[in-house]
Amino acid sequence: MTELSGIRTSGPAHLGNYLGAVRRWAAGQRPDDVFLVADLHGMTTTHNPHRLRQYARQAFALLIASGVDPARALVFVQSDLVREHAALTWVLECTCTYGEAKRMRQFREKSGGQDSVRLGLLTYPVLQAADILLYGADRVPVGEDQHEHIELARALANRFNGNYGEVFVVPEGVLPAVGAGIKDLAEPTRTMAKSSGETPGVVFVLDSPELIRRKVERAATDDLGTVRFAPKEQPGVSNLLEILGACTGVSPREIGADVADYEQLKSTVADAVVEVLRPVRERMTELLDDPAELDRLRALGAARARERATPRLEAALKVVGLG
Ligand code: AQP
Repeated sequence: MTELSGIRTSGPAHLGNYLGAVRRWAAGQRPDDVFLVADLHGMTTTHNPHRLRQYARQAFALLIASGVDPARALVFVQSDLVREHAALTWVLECTCTYGEAKRMRQFREKSGGQDSVRLGLLTYPVLQAADILLYGADRVPVGEDQHEHIELARALANRFNGNYGEVFVVPEGVLPAVGAGIKDLAEPTRTMAKSSGETPGVVFVLDSPELIRRKVERAATDDLGTVRFAPKEQPGVSNLLEILGACTGVSPREIGADVADYEQLKSTVADAVVEVLRPVRERMTELLDDPAELDRLRALGAARARERATPRLEAALKVVGLG
């Protein structure tokens, strides 16, 4: 079984990415699993080239610092294999119809019907299909919002195999093991998101302990004064309990009774977040301060990924009549 997961470089990685995804990827990694830093996906909307490169290095360092083992699982930066991903994307674009691409809900929502959007916003689900099919992934854990992209990858794999010959494993979208869904601290009814940028509601993995404390202290709560897990009625307090639960391994429902008031809740959450992120931030910082070591690990990951991707790409190019 090969499971594929990715992190987009749409911004710096945050607490939600770590608690809800990366930490669990590291804990559950199997030798065949694939973890990619999806930096090609970080330029479908206006982007800053310097930041895109920086976020990719940071995201790769985060995966390694969290315990993903580059000698065991496949862990790499997508653009280190840009030729492989771009080549298969073209082949799959010639397998996909315009109607299929433009029907994707994410495209309709994000483009808002504007002709001025980047064409990449229309075609990135095909790139995503290439990411999956190149590595023979048969399971892709995704949330509801990404489900139709996995359906597209399935449709393209089936169509390609039917038209030209069996080359691709047909992937299956699986619901990720239930992880913490972390909300924005300042606006707890929306998800904590990288693309929100530098706002007090998002705790980034590289934030200093002082900054983390300030952000948690300023987190939105309510005037009910009761510490209990009730996401609909008390989204801010419940989010803090969710974070505390994810940091300590205790169910957020069970924590409330032990906490006297919001002040105590916030200082307990701040301590827990600082301690959970400390080793990751320290190891990430070491790696980012040692570009030669980071590049060595990146090159190792890229070489292993290329070894896995090349036979399938060559088979696909051959059967469609290229080369
Ligand atoms: N707030 C969150 N709580 C729990 N898990 C989260 N993930 C993202 N946000 C939260 C999980 O992190 C993994 C990598 O996410 P992604 O790079 O695919 O980005 P995303 O899901 O689109 O959300 P982001 O990180 O906030 O970025 P933007 O702002 O670009 O949407 C995934 O497994 C995701 O579920």
